[in-house]
Amino acid sequence: MTNLTSDDYVIRAIRPDEWAAVKQLRLSALQDPAAHIAFLETYEDALGRPDSFYQERAKGSGEGATGAQQFIAQAPDGTWVGTVTVLIEESGTQDWAGYPVERRQGHVVGVFVRPEHRGNGLIKALFDAGAAWAWQHSAERVRLLVHEDNARAQGAYRKAGFAPSGVVVSFSKDEAEKELEFVLEPS
Ligand SMILES: CC(C)(COP(=O)(O)OP(=O)(O)OC[C@H]1O[C@@H](n2cnc3c(N)ncnc32)[C@H](O)[C@@H]1OP(=O)(O)O)[C@@H](O)C(=O)NCCC(=O)NCCS
Repeated sequence: MTNLTSDDYVIRAIRPDEWAAVKQLRLSALQDPAAHIAFLETYEDALGRPDSFYQERAKGSGEGATGAQQFIAQAPDGTWVGTVTVLIEESGTQDWAGYPVERRQGHVVGVFVRPEHRGNGLIKALFDAGAAWAWQHSAERVRLLVHEDNARAQGAYRKAGFAPSGVVVSFSKDEAEKELEFVLEPS
């Protein structure tokens, strides 16, 4: 645990050429003890992907991209210690699970803060940046899905202003488990 406060970090969108750091942070996230309920991808999946995958991803969600944006938090020593990614979902389309998207909205994925930087408000600062980007891109709401057993993430989302919408979907890795939709409405 550090004694940094959320003001000590630089929160910013990634640049399209920062794919190697994107990969590194993703591999760290996938080694978290909560990774099996937090992320659909495994560490082995991520490790096995070619550099071109991360290069495309960084371009598609880097500064200047309009369909997605990945934000990172940089500690004072330059280390990347947290991230959220916002994907724009268009009204009239279907989401990844086949459900209709009724309003243009932001969908937050890939939420991770390194363990030693948790509990200090950093995640709220990352969400604020992600939501501001979504509003600038005409999203009418921002949503995410969180596993029913991921109590810490749910706590963090509530503190960032999200509330459960009542929508519950099966967890795609195990149909017997559930994910809850949490929504942030513009203030
Ligand atoms: C999810 C994550 C980004 C949240 O960041 P964080 O810095 O840990 O969040 P915070 O500590 O600010 O907020 C969590 C809140 O939940 C509370 N909480 C922690 N464990 C809890 C539990 N088991 N049950 C209920 N509440 C819990 C905390 O006390 C805190 O609330 P408080 O500040 O009012 O005390 C971070 O924990 C993480 O990276 N986890 C691993 C990856 C992950 O789960 N990602 C989310 C995928 S949906």
